[in-house]
Amino acid sequence: MDEADTPPQPSPTATGITRRRALQSATALALGTGAAVGGYRLGAEQGSSPQSKTIPFYGPHQAGIASSQQEHLQFASFNFGGIRASQLRELLKAWSQTAATITAGQPVTAHLRALGPGPADSGETLGLGAASSTVTIGLGRTLFERDGRDRLGLRNRMPQELAPLPQFRGEQLDPLRCGGDLCVQACADDPQVAFHAVRMLARIASAGGTRVRWNQAGFLPAPTGNPTSNPRNLLGFKDGTNNIRGHDRTTMNRHVWVTDGDGPNWMAGGTYLVARRIRIWLDTWDPTSLEEQERVIGRHKASGAPLGGHSEFDPVNLDARAGGLPVIPANAHIRLAAAKLNHGERILRRGYSFSDTVDPHDGQLDAGLFFISFQRSVHHQFVPIQHRLAAHDALNMHTQHTSSALFACPPGPQPDSYVGQALFE
Ligand code: HEM
Repeated sequence: MDEADTPPQPSPTATGITRRRALQSATALALGTGAAVGGYRLGAEQGSSPQSKTIPFYGPHQAGIASSQQEHLQFASFNFGGIRASQLRELLKAWSQTAATITAGQPVTAHLRALGPGPADSGETLGLGAASSTVTIGLGRTLFERDGRDRLGLRNRMPQELAPLPQFRGEQLDPLRCGGDLCVQACADDPQVAFHAVRMLARIASAGGTRVRWNQAGFLPAPTGNPTSNPRNLLGFKDGTNNIRGHDRTTMNRHVWVTDGDGPNWMAGGTYLVARRIRIWLDTWDPTSLEEQERVIGRHKASGAPLGGHSEFDPVNLDARAGGLPVIPANAHIRLAAAKLNHGERILRRGYSFSDTVDPHDGQLDAGLFFISFQRSVHHQFVPIQHRLAAHDALNMHTQHTSSALFACPPGPQPDSYVGQALFE
């Protein structure tokens, strides 16, 4: 790892230099039983864990978008501490190299000099394997423009899609949990692996004064063994039935991946990420009758079938009527979110359930859905769908949006490049 590749950092202490050199020489050693990596002697457990599955970090698109959802999420938003574009470039380089290492299931060995004599890698994932981890990096509007200022000299490269989201009816956003200059979405089939990724990237970033602004953990149920069945959210309903499938290239190209001509060239192959922390009022939802819950969503709870259907993947018939009324009510969530009512627009949803602390005001669990969606155009896809939902969705009785963020996720890097490289070219 070249020193020039590290982000701007305070002067290294003598101890830091010694430590870094030791770590760098350790990197040269082969991985395997007894090999020393990052100062650790790894036992036979490295790579032999059932969680050793890896998802490539490098490719035309960033990982963690089209790949199927892992069980755990750590999502962090950052305030960038630098004042020059070159500092951002160095940070993105360091993050990319580190993310590649972590998602390969290897300990971090570089980019952590001058942060004290502690080991480069904090060590909590030694022996755990990669656990299908992915790291997805996004850039926020305030990186390009803050308080009307061209902060890093990059304003003329800012995609129009990063225009602020409009206000939506009923939302009550906590500014401390909104926005951010950068984001890291770390997902893994092990909660500690996902946490470790954010921890390491935050530590690297802190050397240049970049700090975590807010962080959200999320979870999904463990797989049931039936790969075609979707996980249930905290409403108890199957979630993802009518979602875009990551392997469906035609649909991904149409609705998710930014294409040449959509905006600045550096985003071609990338996508835009919207995150909304949506609290579910469990105290109003749980006493609601099953029939009413099913009318709110427009699907049967146990089977996941659309109302009027029998099994989860039966087509949704929005025209069906019974006794003069629509079978799927006019204000049902799946009707209002359907592509048919939104000019054919679809989004890729990749959210996670969350349960944070207890709300001190009402003693209720502060739990819900950390909604994440990826789309080619936020303002033609997410925004109109969310406007319609915010105005009419029966689910609004039981939910409230409490945070919001929007990031541009550049295309995937190659082994000799880094996330966002084309932004600087
Ligand atoms: C707490 C908040 C939410 C919950 C619990 C929730 C839950 C669900 C459930 C259970 C389904 C049916 C199964 C499926 O097809 O995945 C669904 C469908 C859907 N949801 Fe949500 N959702 C929430 C918020 C949102 C938001 C904010 C959006 C977008 C702005 C959205 C967009 C969609 C879309 C596009 C569908 C598929 C509709 C179709 O074509 O059938 N959802 N959601």
